[in-house]
Amino acid sequence: MNTQWDFASFNLDLSHLWDIPNGISCPKDFSTQMKAAWSAFVSKCQSQEIGFFDWPRNISQSELTQISVLAKRITTDFQGAICIGIGGSYLGPAAIQEALKPVQNEKGFSVIWVSNADSGTLLKAKSFLKTRRSATVIISKSGVTTETLSAFFHLSRELSSEGFVVITDPQKGELRRLSNEMGWHSLPVPPNIGGRFSVLTSVGLLPLALQGVSVEELLRGADSMRSKLTQFSPEENPAVWYAFSKFLWDGLGRSVQYLMPYDSRLKLIGDWYVQLWAESLGKKQLGTNRAVGPNPVAALGTSDQHSLLQLFKEGPSNRLIGFIDLTEKESLVVGKPSFSSDNFSYLSNHSFSELNVLASYSTEESLHNASVPTYRISLKELSAFSLGELLFFQETACAVAGEFYKVNAFDQPGVEETKRLLRSKL
Ligand code: PA5
Repeated sequence: MNTQWDFASFNLDLSHLWDIPNGISCPKDFSTQMKAAWSAFVSKCQSQEIGFFDWPRNISQSELTQISVLAKRITTDFQGAICIGIGGSYLGPAAIQEALKPVQNEKGFSVIWVSNADSGTLLKAKSFLKTRRSATVIISKSGVTTETLSAFFHLSRELSSEGFVVITDPQKGELRRLSNEMGWHSLPVPPNIGGRFSVLTSVGLLPLALQGVSVEELLRGADSMRSKLTQFSPEENPAVWYAFSKFLWDGLGRSVQYLMPYDSRLKLIGDWYVQLWAESLGKKQLGTNRAVGPNPVAALGTSDQHSLLQLFKEGPSNRLIGFIDLTEKESLVVGKPSFSSDNFSYLSNHSFSELNVLASYSTEESLHNASVPTYRISLKELSAFSLGELLFFQETACAVAGEFYKVNAFDQPGVEETKRLLRSKL
């Protein structure tokens, strides 16, 4: 049984999910279960019920051209952009932005997000607007989400409608109605790609193109992962093994499933993972109505070593930990201090990348000694290509996990009910 895979931009190592005493073991019918899950997923893609998997190769050249022309126009005519969106209409693009553009250019074009609709966020947006003439990208697949509409309504008085771009359903919703009636620029969200799977559609591509992120490289990374995954048989497929291992551990009570990147630029990737796995899998099982699903959680290394690690190691046995490490060739080096500290001089030659990678291995070793299951994703670079590969891998694995859990991974009835209740209360 293989537990390690080498992709173009990251390695995946699941070995410490499988070598834990009294941990998961491979069921006799694992091959049947894996084949059934993968073929159910593939047939939903073939029937176009699920759109995200073929999207990196289905996106049309004309849509890509439209995105790049719009991005060029906005960055020429404006000094910044406010992007408004929540959930799947925020987390993916914001996570890639934070990873690739962690420092916004003070003088050049910059982008801020309004996601949580509260006074603090809106006041921040308003002070951004005082310093630069800004375009507005309003993102909502449904076009009716309360937080997004409220923030947009509030800010609209201070914004130029020439710079409005709406990213929403091609036909339905209030934002579609408004953009048709007012003649605002708009881009469609494909109806068969759900919010949390939509980062590689215009939802993510326009906000990222505005910041000079290569959307072609993002899509190339995703397509490279797609090609790789389709080459494996289901019983050897890493996305299926990843989904299956986590599913089996959930069955043994390890339902709290952390993803812990060891670089603060990847912090929001953890939040994106949480939404993807929680909203896709935490629901009533089809046929039985049984409540199922893992409890995905994000942490950040090394900060959370000084907060959560004690609990991970000696607390209740209900969690597993996934690490993301990043080996960077061009990382800052600690260097010699401006004073003498002989007992700690060993620090000077190490880079911060090394420090974090080694810290993640130390945590893994310590957890392994305590029989806590772990896995590792080792990123070889931080780039549009590597994030395209990584996010596409997670999306595919999550969709396949939906087949093991026997849920519809693509709806969110719990979220929709609350949206309706909030509308009626307002
Ligand atoms: O993944 C989902 O479908 C949700 O998280 C939505 O993205 C979120 O509720 C926002 O919805 P909308 O894009 O319709 O504004």
